[in-house]
Amino acid sequence: MPDTIVIALGGSLLSDDNLDKLETWKIDFIKLINSIIDLENKVFIVVGGGKLARKNISKAKEMGIKDKFELDLIGIDATRENAKSIIKLFTNFRIINENVPKSIDEGLDSFNNFNLTIMGGTVPGHTTDTVAIKMAKVLKSKLVVIATNVSHVYTSDPRVDSNAIPLEKITLEELGSLSGVGKPIQPGSSFAVDPIGVGIAIENNLPLVILNGHDVENLRKAIYGENFKGTMVYGSD
Ligand code: UTP
Repeated sequence: MPDTIVIALGGSLLSDDNLDKLETWKIDFIKLINSIIDLENKVFIVVGGGKLARKNISKAKEMGIKDKFELDLIGIDATRENAKSIIKLFTNFRIINENVPKSIDEGLDSFNNFNLTIMGGTVPGHTTDTVAIKMAKVLKSKLVVIATNVSHVYTSDPRVDSNAIPLEKITLEELGSLSGVGKPIQPGSSFAVDPIGVGIAIENNLPLVILNGHDVENLRKAIYGENFKGTMVYGSD
C-alpha cells in the first residue's frame, strides 16, 4: 500500500434513498480509513458536491444566475459542506484536521500536520477529481483513487451505447484519448474522471484507480493492492 492515499470521494456516495444502506456504507468507510491510518499511512480525502451541488446550482440558475464562475462557487460551497459532514463521521479521531482546507496550499499544510485531511473544492473551473489529482501531485502520492458511482471507465458512454465495454487496465494516455484532455467536463457528460485532472495526471505520470465507491470492500482491495473491480490507469515506469 502506498504511504499516502488520496481519495476523490464522489458526492453521489453521500446520498442514497436507502438510508440503512447509507448508514452501513458510512460505518464500513470509517473502519476502512481507520485501518489504513492504523498502518501509519496518511489519508487525504477530497469530497464531491453530489446532490447538494446539483440542487444549489439549479436553484441559482432558476434565480437567473448564468455566470459559470458564480455557479462553480456555489458548487464549491456544496463540496465543502459535504466535506464537513464526512469530517463529523470521524469525531473522536485524534489526528484529523477538523477544518476544511480551501486551497492546495492549505491542503498541503494540513497533510503535514494531520494523518487525515478532508477537503472539498478549491477554485472554479474544474471538479473535485482535479483537486484530488493536484493534491496527489504535491503530496507525491503514488495512487489516486477516484471513488465514484460508476464501476469502470468505458470505451464509450454506457448510458447511450449498449456496446460500451468496461475497461480494467489502461494507460494514462489511453484515458486521455477517451476523456479528452484539459477541456472542462461537458454538462451532462457521464465520463468517470474530469479531463482537466486527467491532463495533470498525464503530465505527472500519476496512476489512477477508478471504481464504484459504494462498495467499500472493493475500495479496500484497490487501496491494499489486491484484485479489485474497476479501472486501473497505469503510468509509465
Ligand atoms: P464535483 O467535484 O462534485 O463535480 O463538484 P461532479 O462532477 O458533480 O462530481 P460528483 O458527481 O459529485 O463526484 C461540483 C461542482 O462544483 C464546482 C464545479 O461547478 C463542479 O461541477 N467545483 C468543484 C469547482 O468549480 N471547483 C472545484 O475545485 C470543485
